[in-house]
Amino acid sequence: MDQFSLQGKVALITGASRGIGEAIAQTFAKAGAQVIVASRHLDNLEVVVQTIRGNGGEAFAIAAHMGDAGAVKLLVQQSIDLFGGIDVVVNNAGINPYWGSLLEAEESLWDKTLDVNLKGYFRLIREATPSMIERGGGKVINIASIAGLSPMPGVGLYGISKAAVIMLTKILAVELAPNNIQVNAIAPGFVKTRFSQAIWGDETVNQAVIDNTPAKRIADVDELMGLALYLATPASQYLTGQTIVIDGGLTLSTSNYGD
Ligand SMILES: NC(=O)c1ccc[n+]([C@@H]2O[C@H](COP(=O)([O-])OP(=O)(O)OC[C@H]3O[C@@H](n4cnc5c(N)ncnc54)[C@H](OP(=O)(O)O)[C@@H]3O)[C@@H](O)[C@H]2O)c1
Repeated sequence: MDQFSLQGKVALITGASRGIGEAIAQTFAKAGAQVIVASRHLDNLEVVVQTIRGNGGEAFAIAAHMGDAGAVKLLVQQSIDLFGGIDVVVNNAGINPYWGSLLEAEESLWDKTLDVNLKGYFRLIREATPSMIERGGGKVINIASIAGLSPMPGVGLYGISKAAVIMLTKILAVELAPNNIQVNAIAPGFVKTRFSQAIWGDETVNQAVIDNTPAKRIADVDELMGLALYLATPASQYLTGQTIVIDGGLTLSTSNYGD
């Protein structure tokens, strides 16, 4: 099982104060990684750090807004100062500040969405790769979405940002392959977190999603962890540039997303 170990590795995870990012941080720490958890609010991150340490893991919290290039640079520098380098980055911090018709979205919302969901991902990779190269290789995991693969009503702007993440993943996979850095993406369907509360918190919408999902339920964060661990470890050494859909079959359904 050494192929699935993160012993001796340093992993930096954004959006790790709750939801998918927190679960990834807990999972990677259990697999032996020294973990840096990042998001905007330090108090929430400290709770995650305490849980990881309580389970015998090593973790440190750093507050950073992924829409702020200077903050991302500092996040990476502080992580290197703390643990000596970076082997794995997980770009997970994402926002969806606009629901509605794409044609009616203000330009400021385009800027906000792309700044965090796309440029934020790029910034972190750009800052972290020199350390990975110095250490002989690394892993990048970008959290995309099935909304980046098929048009989803009401979240077109978010979907565009996630489609761009999928292309970013491919381009950087090619550019970084000679440095032994694998760059892959995870495209989840609906996962029960605060982010998706508008879906599972509304009985009608939730039922429509469940009806259209072959697995007949939305995912729990834990159901993404095997894939996240695979993409972070030597087990996936020859896999790069791929976006792996994990959606209970929703994108295979003929009437994908309900009304
Ligand atoms: N849940 C789903 O159904 C679903 C489906 C497909 C894809 N995804 C993707 O999965 C990722 C994680 O989503 P989630 O469901 O786990 O969401 P979540 O529970 O709402 O967590 C979002 C995390 O991102 C952080 N964050 C938000 N804006 C940030 C910023 N500007 N800079 C730094 N951190 C920021 C939040 O912490 P702070 O508030 O402390 O900053 C929090 O830790 C996102 O990229 C999302 O697009 C989710």
